Amino acid sequence: MPLVTFHKHGQVFREEVLPNTNLVVRAGIRQFPYPHLSYQCGMGKCATCACKVLAGAEHLPPPNWKEKKQLGERLEQGFRLVCQLWLQHDIELVQEAPAVAA
Ligand code: FES
Repeated sequence: MPLVTFHKHGQVFREEVLPNTNLVVRAGIRQFPYPHLSYQCGMGKCATCACKVLAGAEHLPPPNWKEKKQLGERLEQGFRLVCQLWLQHDIELVQEAPAVAA
């Protein structure tokens, strides 16, 4: 099962999730990484869920058009929209200050 390591405000949260898990969907039903993950729309429109991938990016699919539109140059810095990711492998993420909504 994918092991998710989530950094927020200097704290580290870690939990195994089922394969094909979406972290925003999980947070929506108050499961890890709730309440630490910031998100809003869940549809790739607001960028509130943007996280920088510290490890495991090689297992993720290429960014979709919503991520390209919302993240722009931040894609090259390793950011992804967590609401657009269904996790199959271990991943380590950090979420700093919420991104400005578009
Ligand atoms: S929650 Fe809005 S873009 Fe992910």
